[in-house]
Amino acid sequence: MSNQYHDTLQPPYRIQKRLVLNQCFRSVKKQLKPGADLISYVTFGGAELYDLMDLLAVFDLRKRKFLAFSFELEEDLAQKANNCVVAKALRLTKRVHISVIQGDFAIDFGKLGERQAGQNFIFFLDYTECFAQRHQGAIESLLKFNLLRAGDFLIITSCLVPRVMHQPTFMEDKLNLFSDYFHVDEGDIDTQFKVRNHVDLLVGQAFLRNTGGVHASEKLSPALIEKYKYRDTNVPMGLWAFAVQKVEREITGLNDHPFDEFPWIPAPEAEETLPLNLFPDL
Ligand SMILES: C[S@@+](CC[C@H](N)C(=O)[O-])C[C@H]1O[C@@H](n2cnc3c(N)ncnc32)[C@H](O)[C@@H]1O
Repeated sequence: MSNQYHDTLQPPYRIQKRLVLNQCFRSVKKQLKPGADLISYVTFGGAELYDLMDLLAVFDLRKRKFLAFSFELEEDLAQKANNCVVAKALRLTKRVHISVIQGDFAIDFGKLGERQAGQNFIFFLDYTECFAQRHQGAIESLLKFNLLRAGDFLIITSCLVPRVMHQPTFMEDKLNLFSDYFHVDEGDIDTQFKVRNHVDLLVGQAFLRNTGGVHASEKLSPALIEKYKYRDTNVPMGLWAFAVQKVEREITGLNDHPFDEFPWIPAPEAEETLPLNLFPDL
């Protein structure tokens, strides 16, 4: 699935997404360990790096320095990002170093370079498609190469399009894992359960595969801090935020957390045909 659902509405007008990210970054800031003076923010920023502005609306530019890495698959979008208003203005401050990297994050994550001491990472993997097994590889690579450590944050979006998620085949091969991790009978796992817990399961599994080995310096676990659902284009989106924590023992279970539906507006009746009428009273 591509950007087809998201292309019609430009980032500044994605009001729900902006508000959700604002809340999410506030939660991240609260959990950031004291003395984190250098923040590396890794994002799929698109053409406008708008979420970098969302981050800096919450974190004080006067108190910290930032390294922002924006990965972008599309060459023309990457070029636009390099010259966008946000990049131009923030570069003038000298407190944000912005690198736009054209390529697939899952392949090019090595361009982040070596981790420096005292550096904290916030990864925002802003996928426009449904988060699936094929996306686990990027997380596993970050863990394998020590780019994701205790004290870091992992934020992930997943497109909750019913056309995919309401198929019986969606996560069908993971029913036994859902059952093991969430301690529920397979027969009780319905579509909505899979929709709200697919990212929790796939992220948890990626960590289990990669931080428990004999060569691992520490065991890490993703602790869910936020799980939002929003809908400002013609499909609902989910956003998961995890704090990466050092643990003594690997996780053996996951909790079935509901979505925090933001900003609590009634869902439109037609699932995939939301008219883009932002200001109906004007
Ligand atoms: C939702 S848009 C970014 C919006 C931006 N983060 C914001 O909040 O305004 C996602 C962008 O990520 C790019 N993208 C998706 N998967 C990627 C990947 N694996 N590596 C690099 N870029 C990717 C897409 O081309 C798209 O332009």
